[in-house]
Amino acid sequence: MMPPLSSSITKSLLSARPELKFHVSLVNREMPKGLKSHSDLVNEVSHLEIPKYVGALKGKDFLNTQDFSQEEITQVLDAADDLKEKFKSRVETPYAPGRTLFMLFYNRSLRTRNSFEAGIYQLGGHAQFLSPTDVYTPTLPEDMEPYKTESISDVARVLSRYGDAIAIRIYGDAAKWVIRRGHRVMEEFARWADIPVLNMEDDLYHPFQALADIMSAREAEPKLQGKKFVVSYAYSGGLKPLAVPQNDVLISTQFGMDVVLAHPKGFDLEDSVIEAAKENVKRYGGSFEIADDMRGAFDGADFVYPKAWSPKQFVPPISKTVNKEGASEYQAKFKDWIATPELLDITNKAFYMHCGPADRGQEVTDEVLDKYERSLYFEMAENRLHVQKAVMAMTMG
Ligand code: CP
Repeated sequence: MMPPLSSSITKSLLSARPELKFHVSLVNREMPKGLKSHSDLVNEVSHLEIPKYVGALKGKDFLNTQDFSQEEITQVLDAADDLKEKFKSRVETPYAPGRTLFMLFYNRSLRTRNSFEAGIYQLGGHAQFLSPTDVYTPTLPEDMEPYKTESISDVARVLSRYGDAIAIRIYGDAAKWVIRRGHRVMEEFARWADIPVLNMEDDLYHPFQALADIMSAREAEPKLQGKKFVVSYAYSGGLKPLAVPQNDVLISTQFGMDVVLAHPKGFDLEDSVIEAAKENVKRYGGSFEIADDMRGAFDGADFVYPKAWSPKQFVPPISKTVNKEGASEYQAKFKDWIATPELLDITNKAFYMHCGPADRGQEVTDEVLDKYERSLYFEMAENRLHVQKAVMAMTMG
């Protein structure tokens, strides 16, 4: 009979693999399945040592990448690299064991919902999906309706008693198309919740998309500084929020890239975002300019990110009312803002980027999406999983 495990090995084993408690208690009589000896167990423990990034941002909200330093974002990206490697080699990563993530979606989703749900499961936790129409709709004070809505302040405090983080998506119709209203909902949750609030996209920011985007760019070109990164408007028949272009201008300037924002008249981003991008340039180097010509912006680019967003003058607070028809008609003037192979030819063999879902035949041609060799479209979708696991392990672990 082998001697019993020492208390320090037992402690680190149980902290890494709490589900092995039963086996540890029987360790002198019965080895866990697949393990033959105590040295196997010791190897298992060292293999599963908890990385330093777990809990590094414990309890913090994640509403916008700009709330974090370049150093902290780099730590998230490094953690995501580690989690990606472990995922590919099927190494277990129980870094948020038993934790519950509440996911409140006011809008539809493929990538965000499924990557968060798979991600928390892979960290040893559980995701709970909340449709705002199946609960009493969490609502700002001015919009309350008896027995149909519930104040965000109460919802946030109730969920804080059950689980470990609340993730929210809200923009467009759900935020009444009033710019900043979706973000206000996010901030209201963050104000009242005792657990981290994670922004799964509001009307201003999409931080987990921006993290996946910069991770994908860094994989493609490990040295980002000095690379030309173009965030360009591209036409869509739908009305899309400002969140992705705004967050990508912020994160690319935070990494010292030479960033060009290209759009037709009327598609300006929020002034606060432009100011923050300029501040990033002062702090991190690189450059930031705004152009009104897609072709000129693409010239010599290393990364191009052509995607739609909506013109602001048709929605409050700039317009008194929401004028969706006006916005659609205005957008339709810019159907020639589309990513084509011919346009990509004038770049510096640029990597094509889009957060998805891309509108085929409007934002981008089929040929680019299906055949362009330097497309990062699916890598970006894939990396959502890894950056989100990183932030969950850091804030909830
Ligand atoms: N990019 C993105 O957020 O995709 P979904 O809308 O599918 O979640």
